[in-house]
Amino acid sequence: MKNDVEKILFTKEEISEKVKYLANQIKCAYEGKNPLILCILKGSLIFTADLVRELDFPCTIDFMQVSSYGSGSETTGKLKIKKDMDSDVNGRDVIIVEDILDSGVTLSNLLPEIKRRGAKSVAVCVFLNKPERRIAEINADYIGYDIENEFVIGYGLDYDEKYRNLPYVGVLKRSVYEK
Ligand code: IMP
Ligand code: MG
Repeated sequence: MKNDVEKILFTKEEISEKVKYLANQIKCAYEGKNPLILCILKGSLIFTADLVRELDFPCTIDFMQVSSYGSGSETTGKLKIKKDMDSDVNGRDVIIVEDILDSGVTLSNLLPEIKRRGAKSVAVCVFLNKPERRIAEINADYIGYDIENEFVIGYGLDYDEKYRNLPYVGVLKRSVYEK
């Protein structure tokens, strides 16, 4: 796996500090509100697991796996729910946790659905953000790092389902996907 990494962007230690920083921000806004932490599978599995362990107040956790129909260049699309959550979000303060905000199409389709189900509030927390790539109108409330337009792997992020278990975030060598 290591041989496919061009360079390391964020080490395990840096990630750990960043997660604490994000958790602290969330704590200030949500303590006492029993928010629903919505982990978007599969990429944010590891980020969510780390984040919730830094939240020292009551919250509940649920999972969704989603994607969007339509071509990659469309700003609108239809939400495709591969796995839905069990929770009733009606009246809940929901925090969507995502690995990376790229085009924004997925989240811009998911957000209205969560609101439609009656959530009291919906916030977005992403570990990584690629502002340059945005085509849908969406912003995150909590952002770990803004990064350049490079394909990254590790800390939950995959290429072809591989590299999710790397403990750091790295840039994938072009030679891996330009074969
Ligand atoms: P979007 O914001 O709708 O374009 O989609 C975001 C999703 O695309 C993320 O949840 C990731 O699964 C995937 N993705 C986008 N950029 C990267 C990357 O650099 N590495 C790995 N996955 C990525
Ligand atoms: Mg992916």
